[in-house]
Amino acid sequence: MSSVFGRFFSGNKTEHTDFSALGADMHAHIIPGIDDGSQDVATSIAMIKGLQELGFSKFISTPHIMPGVFNNDEESIRAATELLNQSAPKETGTTVQYAAEYYIDDDFPQMVNSGKPLLTFGDQYVLVEANMMSRTRNMEEALFELRLRGLRPILAHVERYPYMYEHHRLDQYEKLRDADVLLQVNLRSFTGNYGEIQKRIARHLADAGMISFLGTDLHNPAQLAIIRESMLDQHVQNLLKSGDLLNNTL
Ligand SMILES: [Fe+2]
Repeated sequence: MSSVFGRFFSGNKTEHTDFSALGADMHAHIIPGIDDGSQDVATSIAMIKGLQELGFSKFISTPHIMPGVFNNDEESIRAATELLNQSAPKETGTTVQYAAEYYIDDDFPQMVNSGKPLLTFGDQYVLVEANMMSRTRNMEEALFELRLRGLRPILAHVERYPYMYEHHRLDQYEKLRDADVLLQVNLRSFTGNYGEIQKRIARHLADAGMISFLGTDLHNPAQLAIIRESMLDQHVQNLLKSGDLLNNTL
């Protein structure tokens, strides 16, 4: 499917039929063999081609950096990206850029405070994730330390932290936004792929105009069909039309 056909007219409203309006996917696990995403170059190529068919034209891949689980650093991520980029241009006509998805563990604020270089993308953005089951004690501290360094934290898949959605209100999300934390939502959440509550939070945040980035968080080619399905959701359509998203600035 070509991005030329990214929009068609249905009645009196413009509908998007692909994600070309976003341009860039800024949260994905395409780089092979270093986390729970793609495990080999051939799979990575299939994932890039699938995302291109969905209209994406820029690929910022974000391998997990989660000490003790995925012990990545810039060197491991750069080496695996270089391996992929030996084949990607010929197979897909593009290359993959790398950043990372940093897990906020007990040591993360101190690591940021130490001044160690971090993997950023775009306008000094740093993608971070937190524990999904329970409140991360030092999340505020981590986000504060990042901003202190002049970096711009993006909290990954914010709809996947149900404990932040107390009384079905967005107060905690508003607090983050007011502290200059940008909110990223996974497209798959709009289909209910992670559960009903995650879908509800995603839709609520979309209605409130609080989402700055959409991401695929693609881990394997099978998830491409779910991302395609998310395009049918009216909230996704509204977001693509809103002009609020920053994906296309990357
Ligand atoms: Fe991720």
